[in-house]
Amino acid sequence: MKFRGAEAIVETVEWNGQIVVSKVRNKRGYRHPSLEKRLVVERLRSESRIMERLLSRGISVPALYSVNISDNSLLMEFIDGSTLEKALREKDFRNHLVKTAELLTMIHSCNVVHGDPTTSNFLVTDKIYVIDFGLSSISEDDEDRASDLRVFLESLDSHHSEINGRDIFLSAYTKWAKSKPVLEALKVLELRGRYNLMRG
Ligand SMILES: Nc1ncnc2c1ncn2[C@@H]1O[C@H](COP(=O)(O)OP(=O)(O)O)[C@@H](O)[C@H]1O
Ligand SMILES: [Mg+2]
Repeated sequence: MKFRGAEAIVETVEWNGQIVVSKVRNKRGYRHPSLEKRLVVERLRSESRIMERLLSRGISVPALYSVNISDNSLLMEFIDGSTLEKALREKDFRNHLVKTAELLTMIHSCNVVHGDPTTSNFLVTDKIYVIDFGLSSISEDDEDRASDLRVFLESLDSHHSEINGRDIFLSAYTKWAKSKPVLEALKVLELRGRYNLMRG
């Protein structure tokens, strides 16, 4: 099975007698191959380190089986579910949004910022998994956290304008004890965005 990935080849492969997911970051034609190689290696290291950190705190992330620097690949647990993007088209969408907000507060309380929490980077089974840590970082900055919220809300807005998910999502996020300054920072980010839009 092959999945559509923006900048990686993601597919299921057989490994030690089980079906797992292989994610190989594309090599593009770069002007500066050695610099590029270093960046890709750094991202792969950070992606796997963050997965390990979240796994060790019991957050639902696919188990990481192997990291291979030489071919820029990760092998991880195959999550047999559908993307949140797809799941939000079902009648259970409210519950999915609440669960996703709770998951994001858990990620943030581990001082991890996801960096790209769109609705295609969550997988829904009987619970919700978070994937794709290619843009993640370690941070306890409220503005960085707010930027995660903004990315999620924008992805809701662009793929699911038919449901009013924003309030459901934010009110679940607000249950987190440290959410207040994050929501303040979100307001500032969104105002700034609108101001820039107006200025054209
Ligand atoms: N562990 C996994 N189990 C099942 N499907 C996965 C897994 N990892 C990725 N996928 C699928 O592959 C797609 C792309 O993977 P992702 O890690 O998001 O790569 P990209 O950086 O290219 O977006 C996901 O949206 C999802 O559909
Ligand atoms: Mg992705």
